[in-house]
Amino acid sequence: MVPYGAPMNIEDEYIKNVEELPSCPEIALEVLLIAQDEECDFQALADKIDRDLNLTANMLRMGNSVIYGYMKKISSVKDMIVRLGLNNVKLIAITSASSALLKPSKEAYGLAYGALWRHSYATAILASIIGNYAKVDNEATLYTAALLHDVGKVILDRPLQAEILNREPPEQKMSFVDFEDYILHTNHAKVGMALLESWGLPDDICIPVGYHHLREMSDQADMNTKIVYLANLLIENMGILLTDPEMYNFNVHDQEDPAAVMAEVPNFAGNKEFIIDTFFEKYSDGLSLL
Ligand SMILES: [Fe+2]
Ligand SMILES: [Fe+2]
Repeated sequence: MVPYGAPMNIEDEYIKNVEELPSCPEIALEVLLIAQDEECDFQALADKIDRDLNLTANMLRMGNSVIYGYMKKISSVKDMIVRLGLNNVKLIAITSASSALLKPSKEAYGLAYGALWRHSYATAILASIIGNYAKVDNEATLYTAALLHDVGKVILDRPLQAEILNREPPEQKMSFVDFEDYILHTNHAKVGMALLESWGLPDDICIPVGYHHLREMSDQADMNTKIVYLANLLIENMGILLTDPEMYNFNVHDQEDPAAVMAEVPNFAGNKEFIIDTFFEKYSDGLSLL
């Protein structure tokens, strides 16, 4: 366990010391990496996916649920790429590859089985719709950053649980991230970024994860960071969260107003209602697959 006041790289210490490091299964990680490449070789992607039976089965289930009932069922990953297009298959691969990591319950965060997964999936769907309007170049990168934005909670769940028992609760109300900093001297955004860096994922994914709660830097932030920040906040405001506000007697919401970031994301404000409607359609379609 990391001692209080440990000087540097406390995030790496948590990642190193956590008893069961949630390693991204090797093939899932390779699929994540291949799918980020805009010019990704679909044969290489299909070959990798075919090596993992669970991933293949999960993807075929998801792929078949998005085609019309009377059409011939999709029977292989290559067939899925031909029928649904490489971009859709990349997003399905990223979703399937991340599910095992995000599904289990996270007790310290008051998250039942599947709750973090639904929140992450909702954030990814919304971010990618916002990203299409904002004309971001790499949808897979934005989608992955949004899907994995809270992955640090997977690492910090146990240390947070253990430390809470030894600590006096804070007297004043605070945001969840401040609460993590108070108890652990780091937070899930920083630890998530360190984990994804250790897996070799690109900065376009790691940085939005590391800064998804940091309003102050949004002026200088890149577009993926702004969109992940905005999507997470909107999903939280819709109530697709998470931790019971009464759980630690602190204020879960970060009292952030998304308005300033909304204005910085191209084509968001004028299309907000349509974006939210499209989100609910896609999200409710996707829920049956999760
Ligand atoms: Fe978060
Ligand atoms: Fe979140």
